[in-house]
Amino acid sequence: MRTQVAIIGAGPAGLLLGQLLHKNGIDNVILERQTADYVLGRVRAGVIEQVTMDLLDEAGVGARMHQDGLIHDGVQICVDGVRHRLSFKELTGKSVMVYGQTEITKDLMDGRVAAVAPTVYSAQDVTLHDFFGDNPRVSYRAEGRGHEIACDFIAGCDGFHGISRKSVPPGLISAYERVYPLGWLGLLSDTPPVSEELIYVRHATGFALCSMRSPTRSRYYIQCSLAEDVEAWPDERFWEELKPRLDDEARDRLVTGPSIEKSIAPLRSFVAEPLRFGRLFLAGDAAHIVPPTGAKGLNLAASDVRYLSRALIEHYQEKSADGLEHYSARALARVWKAERFSWWMTMTLHRISDNPFDQKLQLAELDYLFRSPAAATAFAENYVGLPY
Ligand code: FAD
Ligand code: DHB
Repeated sequence: MRTQVAIIGAGPAGLLLGQLLHKNGIDNVILERQTADYVLGRVRAGVIEQVTMDLLDEAGVGARMHQDGLIHDGVQICVDGVRHRLSFKELTGKSVMVYGQTEITKDLMDGRVAAVAPTVYSAQDVTLHDFFGDNPRVSYRAEGRGHEIACDFIAGCDGFHGISRKSVPPGLISAYERVYPLGWLGLLSDTPPVSEELIYVRHATGFALCSMRSPTRSRYYIQCSLAEDVEAWPDERFWEELKPRLDDEARDRLVTGPSIEKSIAPLRSFVAEPLRFGRLFLAGDAAHIVPPTGAKGLNLAASDVRYLSRALIEHYQEKSADGLEHYSARALARVWKAERFSWWMTMTLHRISDNPFDQKLQLAELDYLFRSPAAATAFAENYVGLPY
């Protein structure tokens, strides 16, 4: 088989890139290790930036998002039982949208089926070949047989544990990493959210987040140790751990109920540099991870895809290599700012250290954030998404 761009991974990065390329007449094939149902079953991101919404519109898959997504003009931060509100709208003129990654993935998958563009699910042993030469190839196994795709470019959109980044000779790639000694235990339930806006909670016993997917579906997270086993967390234990971290009003409004999903995610900051290796380009979680606190992971995947899709379109339509040559530097400039913001939010809101000095610094950071319009504006600018 031959295609122009072989895309590894059918997460948000791979599917969105595929859709944008297809819209511009560029052939592509997506190879995904898992089944479509497995990919759709992963409950992850909930908040998307305006620029991500714009890109989903550009890809022609934004209709359901505009119908069902919830526009949020601000966010709330609760510090040891006292809630504060930061208005994005007043500080930046912008908003974010609450619309689940599961729904975005579904919209992108439906768009791909409608475009009759090829996706191979359950592709095993995906292997990248010759991407430093002019004729890269990707081989894989499906339905018991070996297959090979010849292509012009390979897009590595296969997440943090994927094969693309690992295919790069070690001496050519630099990794920058910080692992936090904690995770998030998340619970999804068909209960009304405690608040119309998200509440990020800083509490002496640990971080919590009250989020949502719709007016009838809530998503909650609590900070947990990395050693936790989700099996040790029956729903009742989760609710009992969450309650004392909330303010009185939120606690009164909390409606508990059976979980639909519960999972633990470790917190990590990671960046691989550069993002281009000959004819291989890395995008999204394959290249970088942020701790979830700033709600930036999916948004960064979309921002890489924006740069990469434009670069590939420029290559095919204008015969210009400029975008491809600058892809890595342009994408990384935005990535590092989101890394900084996500690290800052993580360090400011979690119980990471038992040193009272560190805890006093967190409180000083937050007090400054609530009192200084400059600090609040800097926060809001980052949360709604920095301009390209
Ligand atoms: P992925 O979604 O990981 O997709 C990669 C795909 O590649 C997967 O389908 C995988 O199966 C496939 N794959 C892997 N290896 C191979 C292989 N060898 N061959 C073929 N296919 C392969 N981000 C936000 O922006 N906002 C939020 O509010 C937010 N909240 C989050 C909450 C949690 C609890 C978590 C865990 C994450 C959150 N994120 C958030 C981050 C966001 O979910 C990720 O950044 C996003 O999924 C990245 O998309 P991706 O396509 O790059 O990678
Ligand atoms: C959600 C996840 C996040 O990481 C975040 O910062 C906000 C919301 C969510 O899943 O709803």
